[in-house]
Amino acid sequence: MVIRQETQKDFGQIYDLVKVAFQTAQVSNGKEQDFVYELRSKKSYIPELALVSEDEGKLTGHIMFTRMDISGEDGKNHEFLLLAPVSVVLEKRNQGLGSALIKEGMKRAEKMGFKAVILVGNPDYYHRFGYKSAISFGIKNKQNIPDKNVMVYELVPDSLKGFQGMADFS
Ligand SMILES: CC(C)(COP(=O)(O)OP(=O)(O)OC[C@H]1O[C@@H](n2cnc3c(N)ncnc32)[C@H](O)[C@@H]1OP(=O)(O)O)[C@@H](O)C(=O)NCCC(=O)NCCS
Repeated sequence: MVIRQETQKDFGQIYDLVKVAFQTAQVSNGKEQDFVYELRSKKSYIPELALVSEDEGKLTGHIMFTRMDISGEDGKNHEFLLLAPVSVVLEKRNQGLGSALIKEGMKRAEKMGFKAVILVGNPDYYHRFGYKSAISFGIKNKQNIPDKNVMVYELVPDSLKGFQGMADFS
């Protein structure tokens, strides 16, 4: 199994992979595969942090980290990474693949100098990687998503000390 950057040749296969993966997600709007294309079309897209896992020529998982600004109470925009979406094919679930994609993405993001990652998801899954409720870092959200589901990880320890901000996931 290898984890590598996605390329244009993968885009069709990724579309199908994400679509099928989210059919079994706890929360889905059925459009995550389109969201992937939308993310790629924006300047927040970071090709180096859009990764696939591949096993004998077949894609088995996908993850994206894209730029997301969070407005601070200081009136400035602060650059975070948004982790979304992450998908693993059904046949490879519960074998650590999702974890491997998340950890590899975070490692690459840290090397690139990013400070923190934010996401919306199930805390039972993300706590194991060290993600904590965003509210504990002073971050509320405009959409009123329950605080337990909005989580943050500091790639640079204490980089969010004293931060107060409002995340907008629209
Ligand atoms: C979420 C997903 C990427 C995890 O991939 P995976 O390779 O199966 O995960 P891992 O093998 O790394 O981890 C498995 C563990 O995570 C747990 N887990 C998986 N998905 C979970 C979820 N949505 N919520 C809570 N726990 C979850 C499993 O129960 C298992 O727990 P255990 O280690 O205590 O036995 C995969 O289930 C998937 O593609 N789901 C559909 C899309 C989705 O929901 N994406 C994430 C949105 S938050």
